[in-house]
Amino acid sequence: MFSHETLSPRMEYVQYAIRELFPVAERIEKSGVKVTRVNVGDPVPYFGTPKYILDAMAKAAHEGKTSYGRPPGETPFLSAIANRYKRLYNFDAGQDSIFATYGVSEAIQFLNASLMGEGRGCAMFSPYYPAYIPQLRIYGGEPCFSTCDEERGWAPDFDDLKKQLKKAKEAGTDLKYLHVINPCNPTGAVWGKKQLEEIAAIAKDEELLLVSDEIYDEMIFDGKFTSMCQVATGQPLVVLNGLSKNWCATGLRLGWAILHGKDAHMGTLRDAFVRLSSVRLCASVPAQYAGVEALNNEKAHSEFIKGFNKEVKNRSDFCWKRLNEIPGISCQRAKGAFYLFPKIDLKLSGCRTDKEFILKLLEKEHVWAVQGSGFGVGGHLRIVTLPPLETLETACAGIARLMKG
Ligand SMILES: Cc1ncc(COP(=O)(O)O)c(C=O)c1O
Repeated sequence: MFSHETLSPRMEYVQYAIRELFPVAERIEKSGVKVTRVNVGDPVPYFGTPKYILDAMAKAAHEGKTSYGRPPGETPFLSAIANRYKRLYNFDAGQDSIFATYGVSEAIQFLNASLMGEGRGCAMFSPYYPAYIPQLRIYGGEPCFSTCDEERGWAPDFDDLKKQLKKAKEAGTDLKYLHVINPCNPTGAVWGKKQLEEIAAIAKDEELLLVSDEIYDEMIFDGKFTSMCQVATGQPLVVLNGLSKNWCATGLRLGWAILHGKDAHMGTLRDAFVRLSSVRLCASVPAQYAGVEALNNEKAHSEFIKGFNKEVKNRSDFCWKRLNEIPGISCQRAKGAFYLFPKIDLKLSGCRTDKEFILKLLEKEHVWAVQGSGFGVGGHLRIVTLPPLETLETACAGIARLMKG
């Protein structure tokens, strides 16, 4: 009989904090009350996918590029990716080391399907992007967390990282990779060259594959971004990125993984990716042709991203200042992406946990944010700074009223 027990035990891991309060928000909206949303990191509703990208996708579809494509990716798309990395980071990525995927999300699945299993795991920094945990556990992997230093702008804590790696080893976990998210969702931190060099050195010493999720690499408020591919060229490295954020095209579901490294292990991993990409047939073909234009049309993209960053920096800084004015809230300034991760004084708020705070915020103030514990660090909130200033003000005012009790 088909019943609840029929589900695989691995479904126990499939939870997603960002959407958890959906039924509550739906009930409130059905009663005719507007919910102020600062919970989902999707830039499309606020900025829209640039027209030149949509036109390229429609053109490809009308030209008949709607059949199955090459499993690892369409050649012009892989070539556009390789050119982008040469142009931005002077990094040589051979086309046979690049794989087109259904977003970074599928690239992570490929990685975990290839490397995880019982007794294995990966190291990651906390707070983290929540979807990575179920995606790891489904494949039997165990996370090993190293908490970042909030007071230093959510910087990596190298002593803690070494300590956690040692602890995991002593517990018998066979760690396979070290996962970096830079710029960071949920903190808005952007780590610089020195920090990346130190992380790369630790990964090398510990013989860990380095995995760098750089999906926000052009969403930087000031200065230039350093990619892990500029500092970790001499060791096994996987760089992840996609159209979702920098090109404001989340629903196109297109991403890529670059598997860099000459050693035999990387060859074996590339072979695993070839096989995995074959069994899922191919990534969306029209989306890949949209991707060719997205990556090659430097002029249109640079105009878009400059305007986007200027606007989002303004919104982020407004929200950051406003939050720090609220008694019991302290917030680090974001350097990129579109998130803030303020700390709440739970005692002052009268709530036992950040989850209770978030529920009250939605029920009483009709503001929908996400609890920090969903990102691995309790006593915090994650706020998406994409909405216009009036919406951010409404969200902050709701938080301020709730803090007053
Ligand atoms: C750090 C990070 N990685 C990956 C993703 C998902 O990327 P994609 O849409 O390419 O699957 C997100 C989405 O919010 C993210 O914040």
